[in-house]
Amino acid sequence: MENTNSRVTIHMVASLDGFIARKDGGVDWLETSDEFADGDTMDPEFVAAFLKTIDCYVMGSRTYETALRFESRGLGWAYGDKPTFVLTSRELPRVRESVEFYSGDLAQFVNRRLRSMFRSIWFVGGGAVSAECLRLGLADEVRYSIMPVLIGDGIQFFEKLDRDVALHLSEVKAYKTGMVELCYEVLGKRSESPHATEAR
Ligand SMILES: NC(=O)c1ccc[n+]([C@@H]2O[C@H](COP(=O)([O-])OP(=O)(O)OC[C@H]3O[C@@H](n4cnc5c(N)ncnc54)[C@H](OP(=O)(O)O)[C@@H]3O)[C@@H](O)[C@H]2O)c1
Repeated sequence: MENTNSRVTIHMVASLDGFIARKDGGVDWLETSDEFADGDTMDPEFVAAFLKTIDCYVMGSRTYETALRFESRGLGWAYGDKPTFVLTSRELPRVRESVEFYSGDLAQFVNRRLRSMFRSIWFVGGGAVSAECLRLGLADEVRYSIMPVLIGDGIQFFEKLDRDVALHLSEVKAYKTGMVELCYEVLGKRSESPHATEAR
C-alpha cells in the first residue's frame, strides 16, 4: 500500500545551461571559485541534520558507476549507510550492504515498495532516470542546484523529457559560493503502470 506521507524528490547539481555532467561524464566543473557576498553559508551541521532526513536513495546505473569511481579514488561514498537502489538490467559489483539492484517496472517499485517503506525518497540522477521519474509522474519535488558556470554541452538534467511538467516554485536559496538552490513542487497527478514488480 502506498504511504501518502511519502515524498519523492529529484535532486541534482547542474551548470546554468542545464547539464549535470560533460558528455564523457566529467564533473570537474562542479569546482567553481565564485563568491556571492549576500549568499548564505552552508553550515555543515545543518547539512548533516538534513541528510539524516533522507530515508533512501535511487539512482541509475551510470550514476552508480560514477559513484564507484569516486570511491575507488578515495573520494568517499556520498550516500552514507542509507539504502541505495540502483536501477539496472546489468550485473554490477555490489560494494556495500546498503546497495540493492532493481530492474523492472519503476512506477510499481516506487509507488508500492519504496513509498510503503520510506518517507523521504531521493532520486539522485542521472538525467535518464530523472526524466523517467518525471515521465511516469513519480516525483513530488525537484531540487535543482545551479552552479555559476556554463559548460556548453553535456548530459542534460532531464534527458529527452517528452512533455511539459508544470511546477510551483517553493524555495530559493543563494549561497556564498554562487550556487543557487531552487526547489519546486511538481504539479499534477501520479500514475502507476500495471506491470509486475521485480526486485533482485
Ligand atoms: N551533477 C549531478 O548532480 C549528477 C548527479 C548524478 C549523476 N551525474 C552524472 O550523470 C551521468 C549519468 O547520467 P545518465 O543520464 O547518463 O545515466 P543514469 O540516469 O545514471 O543511468 C541510466 C541507466 O540506468 C539504467 N536504468 C534502469 N532502469 C531505468 C529506468 N527505468 N529509467 C532509466 N534508466 C534506467 C539503464 O542502464 P542499464 O544498462 O544498466 O540497464 C540506463 O542506461 C554520470 O556522468 C554522472 O556523473 C551528475
